[in-house]
Amino acid sequence: MNAAPRLEGVSPSLFDGLFGLFSRDIGIDLGTANTLVHVRGRGIVIAEPSVVAKDQRTGAVLAIGAEAKRMVGRTPASIVAIRPLKDGVISDFDITEQMLNYFIRKVHGERALLYPRPRVIVGIPSGVTEVEKRAVQDAAISAGARWARLVEEPMAAAIGAGLPVNEPTGSMIVDIGGGTTEVAVTSLGGIVISRSIRIGGDEMDSDIVQYARREFNLLMGERTAEDIKIAIGSAYPLDEEVSTYFRGRDLLTGLPRSIEVTSAQIREAIEPSIESIVEAIKQTIEETPPELIADVMDQGIYLAGGGALLRGLDTRVAEATQMAVHVAEDPLTCVVRGCGMIVEDLVKYERSLVMETYSSNSRYLLRMASFGRARRNQSGVLRPFALLVLVSLLLLLARNTDVVRGSSTFLTQLLVPVQRVLADVGAAGDRFASAISQIDRLRDDNARLLTENDRLTLENVRLREQAIAGQQAERLLTLQRTVPFESIPALVIARDPTGILHTIVLGIGTDDGVKVGHVVLSDQGLVGRVSEVGTNYSKVLLVTDSSSVVSALVQGSRATGIVRGQFGDSLIMDWLLQTEPVKEGDVVITAGLGIGDELRSLYPKGLVIGTIAQIQTAQAAAYNRAIVTPAVDLRRLEHVLVVKTN
Ligand SMILES: Nc1ncnc2c1ncn2[C@@H]1O[C@H](COP(=O)(O)OP(=O)(O)OP(=O)(O)O)[C@@H](O)[C@H]1O
Ligand SMILES: [Mg+2]
Repeated sequence: MNAAPRLEGVSPSLFDGLFGLFSRDIGIDLGTANTLVHVRGRGIVIAEPSVVAKDQRTGAVLAIGAEAKRMVGRTPASIVAIRPLKDGVISDFDITEQMLNYFIRKVHGERALLYPRPRVIVGIPSGVTEVEKRAVQDAAISAGARWARLVEEPMAAAIGAGLPVNEPTGSMIVDIGGGTTEVAVTSLGGIVISRSIRIGGDEMDSDIVQYARREFNLLMGERTAEDIKIAIGSAYPLDEEVSTYFRGRDLLTGLPRSIEVTSAQIREAIEPSIESIVEAIKQTIEETPPELIADVMDQGIYLAGGGALLRGLDTRVAEATQMAVHVAEDPLTCVVRGCGMIVEDLVKYERSLVMETYSSNSRYLLRMASFGRARRNQSGVLRPFALLVLVSLLLLLARNTDVVRGSSTFLTQLLVPVQRVLADVGAAGDRFASAISQIDRLRDDNARLLTENDRLTLENVRLREQAIAGQQAERLLTLQRTVPFESIPALVIARDPTGILHTIVLGIGTDDGVKVGHVVLSDQGLVGRVSEVGTNYSKVLLVTDSSSVVSALVQGSRATGIVRGQFGDSLIMDWLLQTEPVKEGDVVITAGLGIGDELRSLYPKGLVIGTIAQIQTAQAAAYNRAIVTPAVDLRRLEHVLVVKTN
């Protein structure tokens, strides 16, 4: 029977388990790009950008996380976005403290009365200084943590990726985050060798920004660059190269412009960053002791962090190192899941944590003192409880045992049932704990499926948009064949966002033969005409602009009139003879006649302008006025045809 040897281990872990059941312990990945929070028993509850919005004039923090990222660019210029952990180091400590505080309170605050204060494990970049480490610890304590310990990110990533860190075998993890790439080899619970470079996803984004400027004179934001990287970026030639559009501001004309780029071009753009990452991995391998390298060769290299999602990076690293390379499951959450696993089994991972450092810092000493108090309180609760269990067991025994047999046999006999009961209780506790961890796993699975669902929904939307764009382009080709003039298709690259100016900008200009006055059509009808033209852009005045005048005809009748734009999205048709039978729903087309005496119409005959929505009858006049709804949805136009009418 193996109950006896278990006895010693059971009681403390049982009590710890009981206490732990009620404590919502927290693991935090304090990343340069994203901060993630894992709560014991609930899984990953927060995944937000590590961004703080601050008012530069007053210094006040206005928002943190996702909300801060949303605010930036939509608010007065005095509000700036701060990424307090730029380049993998804490560049602004006060802000980092506030951010940490916000996230801990967000998960603990709502239940502060129900649960004991949480234990917190924070994953930090391995480059931070001793002072910064202690500061992060202090920040967690002041945000309500019962105690806080730190773990270096690559270690947490290795644990989260499921590598056997505690075994006497070498495992290699590469965590490619936003600001840094950290390469580490772990063994026996510690990091044997590591290398950290300040190059990660952010650097790839700025590579793309520079490439756009250098190759196309195009000014592009980092956010746009990141979108492009995620959409078509790669580190190794793709089976099928794809393309997208660079959208930005032309540095020469100052106007918006879009240029098609291929995945091969993006690969060329980010090559310097990829090269540095591969180089860091190779150097770490060179420095690793030969015994451990043999293990790494058996097991393969594991990639984690958002950068691991870059297409073909695994193949690229595999080719450069001649080793097998695996992308960890759900690489963006490896570090936080690792922190979560540590919090759940502190004994197992104790060696993986950053060593506690002591100092004369008064705040720190204060904290140590209060920690001591907290511990005393804890045993103050547990000691009577343990005593109670023991006394009741003794009473039970006294009833059932023949007491008068000599004290030594009595004691041995006394101990057997106690052992058995405690072992049973221990086993039940273990079963309970494993059920809890099963629930945890299910929650994790659920969260993963939800994210996957979000991703697929987005993908679906994107594909639908592509399909619509394809249909539009196809219909435009059909239209092109029916127009009796030479015409060229064009892409709408900008529109007046307020909707007040009634203009759009096309991506073609005099270089393509566009002139002022050319008529612009969509597959649904008349759009407007070119009012201004540069070498590679042209501005179109829409029919809805109040300065636009078109001579028009109601289809199927002889009623003519003049269609004008007005403030808003509808058109007005004037001078409709009351004697003509015109009704709502009739289609209005261009008449192709002159306006007034000497003016020739700018528009050829027969183009659809819109449908009559309402007829306003004037009492004492011979003419009616009609409100016309434009046939073209001018706010959602993407492909048009420029007709060379002169
Ligand atoms: N599908 C993808 N392809 C390429 N890069 C991606 C993809 N998804 C995310 N990234 C990049 O991953 C980076 C963020 O990764 P992660 O959240 O692991 O960083 P972090 O942990 O906040 O940073 P660090 O570890 O440096 O502190 C960003 O640069 C982002 O652009
Ligand atoms: Mg990270």
